[in-house]
Amino acid sequence: MTMVIVSLSLFTGVDAADPDPLQDFCVADLSKDLTMNGFPCKRASNTTTEDFIYGALKRSANTSNPLGAGAVPGSVLEYPGLNSLGLSISRLDFAKGGLIPPHTHPRASEMIYVVKGSMYAGFVTTDNKLFARVISKGDVMIFPRGLIHWQLNVGNTNAVGIVTLNSQFPGFQMIANSLFGSKILDEVLMKAFFIDEKAVQQLKSIFTPSR
Ligand SMILES: *[C@@H]1O[C@H](CO)[C@@H](O)[C@H](O)[C@H]1NC(C)=O
Ligand SMILES: *[C@@H]1O[C@H](CO)[C@@H](O)[C@H](O)[C@H]1NC(C)=O
Repeated sequence: MTMVIVSLSLFTGVDAADPDPLQDFCVADLSKDLTMNGFPCKRASNTTTEDFIYGALKRSANTSNPLGAGAVPGSVLEYPGLNSLGLSISRLDFAKGGLIPPHTHPRASEMIYVVKGSMYAGFVTTDNKLFARVISKGDVMIFPRGLIHWQLNVGNTNAVGIVTLNSQFPGFQMIANSLFGSKILDEVLMKAFFIDEKAVQQLKSIFTPSR
């Protein structure tokens, strides 16, 4: 019996990204300067249908940037009704050739549904195995929790995807920006990438801390 309980709880730990809620809902009260693995709840008596509806994904993201891609986020910060429910959603827009560059979500697995166009999407495992191909309108693809992944518009039109993640606040860590835009000592980057100081400086000038 003990073994069964242990293995069940192990499975649950792997399966769920955010902890299970202890109430029906807990619409985040973002005005409170207090967090404890989420946000405090808005009073249930003051909660309305509108707290559970999010209209921002009707509009496309601005893709007029060097990457030609953008996101309309729908994490707990923009959509407080998600608080404690272990879910979030975003809309991705790509101009022709646009790229959401390699990044990870440390707290969530992701699923993309391609609404329009086609994109070369993929992820790399912790042992550097690549899982990638072109996905197109109607396809769904999974990017497992924490793994480096990206989407590149390879079609002749703009592309649109809707992503859902199993965390209310998945985290978004861009690999290049984290390494070259965070003021890590040059010596670390020179040794890690086998490049000289000039190359490090050049990359650092692209990925400034503010970008
Ligand atoms: C209830 O909602 C109203 C309207 O959003 C707000 O003005 C009021 O402060 C809220 N009351 C509580 C107790 O949260
Ligand atoms: C999109 O972003 C660019 C660059 O920041 C800006 O100049 C432009 O006004 C934005 N377009 C819209 C429609 O917001």
